[in-house]
Amino acid sequence: MDGSGIVTFDSVPDGDVINFGIGQPSPDLLPVKLIQEATADFLEKAHPLELNYGERQGDSRFRQSLADFLSRHYETPVTAESLIVSGGNSQALDFVCSQFSQPGDTIFIEEPSYFLAHRIFADHGLNVVGIPMDRDGMRMDVLEEQLERHRPALLYTIPSYHNPCGVTLNAERRRQLARLSREHDFVVVADEVYQLLHYYDTPPPLAMGTLLDEGKVLSLGSFSKIMAPGLRLGWIQGSKSLMERILACGVVNSGGSFNHFTSQVMRHALDLGLQQAMVDHLRAAYRRRVDAMDDTLREEIGEAARWDKPLGGYFFWLQLREGANTMQLKEQATKHGTGLQPGPIFSHENGFPNFIRLSFAHYRRDQIRDGVKRLGALLR
Ligand SMILES: Cc1ncc(COP(=O)(O)O)c(C=O)c1O
Repeated sequence: MDGSGIVTFDSVPDGDVINFGIGQPSPDLLPVKLIQEATADFLEKAHPLELNYGERQGDSRFRQSLADFLSRHYETPVTAESLIVSGGNSQALDFVCSQFSQPGDTIFIEEPSYFLAHRIFADHGLNVVGIPMDRDGMRMDVLEEQLERHRPALLYTIPSYHNPCGVTLNAERRRQLARLSREHDFVVVADEVYQLLHYYDTPPPLAMGTLLDEGKVLSLGSFSKIMAPGLRLGWIQGSKSLMERILACGVVNSGGSFNHFTSQVMRHALDLGLQQAMVDHLRAAYRRRVDAMDDTLREEIGEAARWDKPLGGYFFWLQLREGANTMQLKEQATKHGTGLQPGPIFSHENGFPNFIRLSFAHYRRDQIRDGVKRLGALLR
């Protein structure tokens, strides 16, 4: 429950706890009015058949509007045929694992990686091999070594503004990854959930979704971070041959599109320019939050941790002193009215004991300052 007594989401913090462990948007950034406008526009103009089953790939007009929007952001033409509607990246990831792997297959992932993705890979009985990262993303030298030892079915990457460590895979490595997927016959599953959320002058390198001709790449995109997670709407972008394999599967043949109704609403939001306005709004709001968190961390934590200021996404990744136990720190933080995610939960082998992830997305600037002060009292 939140303060108003309304059930909101799992693990909502109690009372005035400022929990930077929550990687979700704050209530003031959830666009009720905008969704109301797009829904009203859809329903006023809707043909009854729009409430029928959809096309199994997803409504073609929605995919065209989305393709136009992505073409502008990706600076590369995106076609409606290369897109299939999903229920967001979590659903898409689970679905891609079912379609492109068997239990016992190997999946390469970044070490560390998005902690909830680990559970999806466990659900599919996949053997996870971690590839370390540096400031330019996944290390290609280690990837090439591991490709001599294993034949992965899949490689999962978060190329831009990584969760948890905020780094971005550079352009050269993106192309290298696409090339290696072709040479070694594995599917790159690029979780591009933060691709459009850049806050300073330089955007990240072009999305992996622009490299469909260069390798076996599936790019997963979502409206969760650029509109609202509750929509449960996203897309999978892939080449013709990968798309054919996806469209042959039973679930889309039986049920049609994964999220037909919401995709109709979002078609109207895209066509009315509301999605672009929301991206602009979020970039400005999150930039102010990154600045507030960075400044307060410097003042309150200073030498007790090392971090790079994130240029996009949701997260700061802090390295504390050697020997720090961040699993215990999480418990202490809760007692001090704040919260964090400890490094080991992002590791498939319990690594990163002295790292923490802080999200700036769920709180206003004044709350960010207060929460970091509480954390500072624990760390100094
Ligand atoms: C890397 C990453 N992938 C996927 C998700 C969840 O995406 P969706 O809401 O589209 O299922 C998140 C949310 O935090 C995330 O950080």
